[in-house]
Amino acid sequence: MASKFVRRVGAIVLALTLAVEGSISSAGETVVVNGISYFADPNSVSIIAATPEMLRSASPKDGDLIPLTVIDDSSNSFTTSVFRSIVANYSAADDVFNPGFLQAIYLKHVGSGPATVKYPLGAALTEYGTKLFMPSRDYTKSVQSQGQSITGWRTEIPAGPYFLSVTTGEVFKAYRLYSDVQGAFTEGLRANPNGTYSVLSAAVPGAQSPTIGVPSRLYYTKTDSQPLAGVRVGVKDIFDIAGVKSSLGNRAYYDFYPPRNSTATAVQRLIDAGAVIVGKMKTSQFANGETATGDWVDYHSPFNARGDGYQDPSSSSAGPGAGIGSYDWLDLGLGSDTGGSIRNPSQVNGCFGNRPSHGLVPLDGVMPLSPALDTAGFLTRDPVLWHTAAKVLYETNITSNFTGFPKKIITSGFPTTATTEAETILLGFLSKLESFLNATTTALDYNTLWANTTPVAAGGASINEYLNIVYPVLISQQQYNLFTLPFYADYAAANQGRRPFIDPSPLIRWTWGQVNVSSDATEQAIASKNVFMDWWAEQVVRPDAESCSESLMLYPGTLATPTYRNVYRSAPGIPSGFGISRVANFAEVPDMVFPIGQAAYNSTITLKEEYLPVAVDIVAAKGCDGMVFALAEQLLSAGIIAIPKTGSTLY
Ligand SMILES: *[C@@H]1O[C@H](CO)[C@@H](O)[C@H](O)[C@H]1NC(C)=O
Ligand SMILES: *[C@@H]1O[C@H](CO)[C@@H](O)[C@H](O)[C@H]1NC(C)=O
Ligand SMILES: *[C@@H]1O[C@H](CO)[C@@H](O)[C@H](O)[C@H]1NC(C)=O
Ligand SMILES: *[C@@H]1O[C@H](CO)[C@@H](O)[C@H](O)[C@H]1NC(C)=O
Ligand SMILES: *[C@@H]1O[C@H](CO)[C@@H](O)[C@H](O)[C@H]1NC(C)=O
Ligand SMILES: *[C@@H]1O[C@H](CO)[C@@H](O)[C@H](O)[C@H]1NC(C)=O
Ligand SMILES: *[C@@H]1O[C@H](CO)[C@@H](O)[C@H](O)[C@H]1NC(C)=O
Ligand SMILES: *[C@@H]1O[C@H](CO)[C@@H](O)[C@H](O)[C@H]1NC(C)=O
Repeated sequence: MASKFVRRVGAIVLALTLAVEGSISSAGETVVVNGISYFADPNSVSIIAATPEMLRSASPKDGDLIPLTVIDDSSNSFTTSVFRSIVANYSAADDVFNPGFLQAIYLKHVGSGPATVKYPLGAALTEYGTKLFMPSRDYTKSVQSQGQSITGWRTEIPAGPYFLSVTTGEVFKAYRLYSDVQGAFTEGLRANPNGTYSVLSAAVPGAQSPTIGVPSRLYYTKTDSQPLAGVRVGVKDIFDIAGVKSSLGNRAYYDFYPPRNSTATAVQRLIDAGAVIVGKMKTSQFANGETATGDWVDYHSPFNARGDGYQDPSSSSAGPGAGIGSYDWLDLGLGSDTGGSIRNPSQVNGCFGNRPSHGLVPLDGVMPLSPALDTAGFLTRDPVLWHTAAKVLYETNITSNFTGFPKKIITSGFPTTATTEAETILLGFLSKLESFLNATTTALDYNTLWANTTPVAAGGASINEYLNIVYPVLISQQQYNLFTLPFYADYAAANQGRRPFIDPSPLIRWTWGQVNVSSDATEQAIASKNVFMDWWAEQVVRPDAESCSESLMLYPGTLATPTYRNVYRSAPGIPSGFGISRVANFAEVPDMVFPIGQAAYNSTITLKEEYLPVAVDIVAAKGCDGMVFALAEQLLSAGIIAIPKTGSTLY
């Protein structure tokens, strides 16, 4: 297969200064290799010390860049069959590499001592369309010379596909370009050499969506200090990243403020561990809950890939949820959960997702909703990556101070017998978990338990009465004071007193927090939340010296119930009331979503049976996140849970 390499778009930024002179700099280039769109990074990673004659010998018809593959060869004898095997392995391991990159090859010997290239490689070189074959100087040649040794590199670079400038010898990273067809991203990003990020200036035709670029997986090797090397991460657009703007799901906000000068600690920890930030992902406005489609006035709600593709992706970490449920090329979403914003999208988009114990990671550089409740966590398909990423994000705050798993399971909202496919899956999982843990299960009736053990501070109120407005008070008043007031003031000062547009959901909540409840309601709400937290840790899920958490509390996350996005709904309201999903918010405990299956429904869109995710939520005592992550890994090994696929069906 000879390489077909086409240069398509040269993206050039032209900036006119106040003086007459202009300045021009490359923002990278979009190119096509064998029919697939790529982006050539504008910053070179190395320079090949090859002669101009050599480089020109591989010169394409037009343009300066040619595709190049750096091959790591660990054999002592590079033969045609080794060559073919490496090409097959690169193709299998990496979605960025394709044989079109073999137009130029730099063969690097990894291992000790000199090695040999067993010529002729002729048939393979012809088949792959190789015009420039450059073994490193470690190789001795046998039979005849076909390759041209180069004298070296400015710096050694890892194996993988690159672009080579035939005029300068510079080598640039290759990103494969994907269209964000599900509308999960706000923009694609690429890293600058100085640690800041820039918006990816590339576009692939055909989808009318942002374009996301992912670097070759072959560039990265995971190590103890870089456990996330090459892991592709999408970041909810409420976390600051130096060099780029934040939208927080609001157009006026995005337009108004300049790019951020620093990166949120939570994001920086991932970058320092080797993660590749590929883009900012959609959030419902200011991380308030919004339901597709009417609530999403400023930005269009992302598309949930599951089932018929027209289900609500939930919110507020809607972009990370939809993206993880849709894209094989995306590994991890960084989201936030104040009242369900990671858990709900994880459930309905069919991914694992964790609301951590409160306070595990500093939230500087992250938009506040309610600091009393805000947390940062992940959405992913892979439980092993989930745990690895959690150790990076929470550092020493994720503990493994347990010597066994809990032997008690508590359920809330479980059916006693299954009457639907989803309930069968739920009860089947429970029974497997019971056997795995050798645990006994009891059903929780929190209303009665509370009634029998009501804390004195609650003054005899039912749990619903006592906690009814705790959540809406905290989010509306804390966000309004910490975030909204300064935003309104900045915006008004620059716009002749105008107020920016705000979506109905956050607006109605802020207004209620100012008009309908007293200004000291936050103080009362925090006190009530803490009373509940202590009650829960004493009466329901207690700490334990051996298993960290005496029990695991399970509740149904989603039972494959459709929520169509093409439905006209009533106006958003105040998220008052108490339910089992509020426990983690108030008790500061981890609540982790496990996809456990899929169940059929009759779609009103496709007029066929389609499948939606079934998920369970697992809650443990505060600070026991590490134990639940370990459980997820072990349940995966035991075959009790599985890694979901992307797209319409999970399995
Ligand atoms: C290709 O991958 C297979 C399977 O991992 C491995 O056995 C083989 O050695 C690899 N080929 C080369 C040339 O490294
Ligand atoms: C970092 O690099 C980018 C891209 O070259 C540039 O725009 C930006 O000004 C640099 N920032 C700093 C702090 O040096
Ligand atoms: C970033 O720093 C520049 C220069 O100090 C300042 O003008 C700008 O307002 C800062 N931007 C933000 C978002 O803080
Ligand atoms: C651990 O949690 C504490 C309490 O929330 C926090 O102050 C600290 O910064 C966290 N440590 C790390 C390493 O994130
Ligand atoms: C399971 O738990 C029961 C009751 O605690 C105990 O008697 C039994 O030995 C346990 N079995 C295993 C396999 O751990
Ligand atoms: C808030 O108060 C206003 C004015 O008293 C009232 O009309 C409105 O119904 C109240 N809203 C809620 C959600 O209670
Ligand atoms: C385990 O560690 C966490 C975090 O430090 C702590 O909150 C919890 O109390 C510890 N549990 C036990 C049983 O020591
Ligand atoms: C879908 O509709 C068909 C025809 O009415 C029915 O037989 C089938 O059980 C339905 N499937 C589900 C999952 O409800």
